[in-house]
Amino acid sequence: DTVHVLNGPNLNLLGTREPEVYGHATLGDVENACRAACERHGLELVFRQTNHEGELVGFLQEARGSLGVALNAAAYTHTSVAVADAIKAVGLNVVEVHLSNVFAREAFRHHSYVSSVALGVICGLGIDGYRLAIDALAARRVS
Ligand code: DQA
Repeated sequence: DTVHVLNGPNLNLLGTREPEVYGHATLGDVENACRAACERHGLELVFRQTNHEGELVGFLQEARGSLGVALNAAAYTHTSVAVADAIKAVGLNVVEVHLSNVFAREAFRHHSYVSSVALGVICGLGIDGYRLAIDALAARRVS
């Protein structure tokens, strides 16, 4: 089985981007944590990042047939009907992940187009959130 971990805009800048909000871990560190979690569960990992909304839609479509997706859609979380529609279209388990606690931040981050079509939501736990999302997907695997 394969898990896709998909990252949206500006997450390529992790480590240097607002470290007081997002921490010092880089996207490479996130990928390593995801790889370790997948190895523990005997899962394959596809790890991707894009700054483009349509490309994120494409990544979701390409995840069809996988065990599920850990998705940090970043700012598109709060704006993208297309990303929400793609999640519905592929019919996969998607765990929404945010590094920061979006509910402790600006009001425009309190609404998510992803949450209502997600299996669950993890936010505010930093890089650990990705590992927890992978654990949750692995727990739903039917062998
Ligand atoms: C984020 C939270 C979003 O509001 C923001 O636009 C991001 C990152 C997070 O991981 O905390 O880019 O998804």
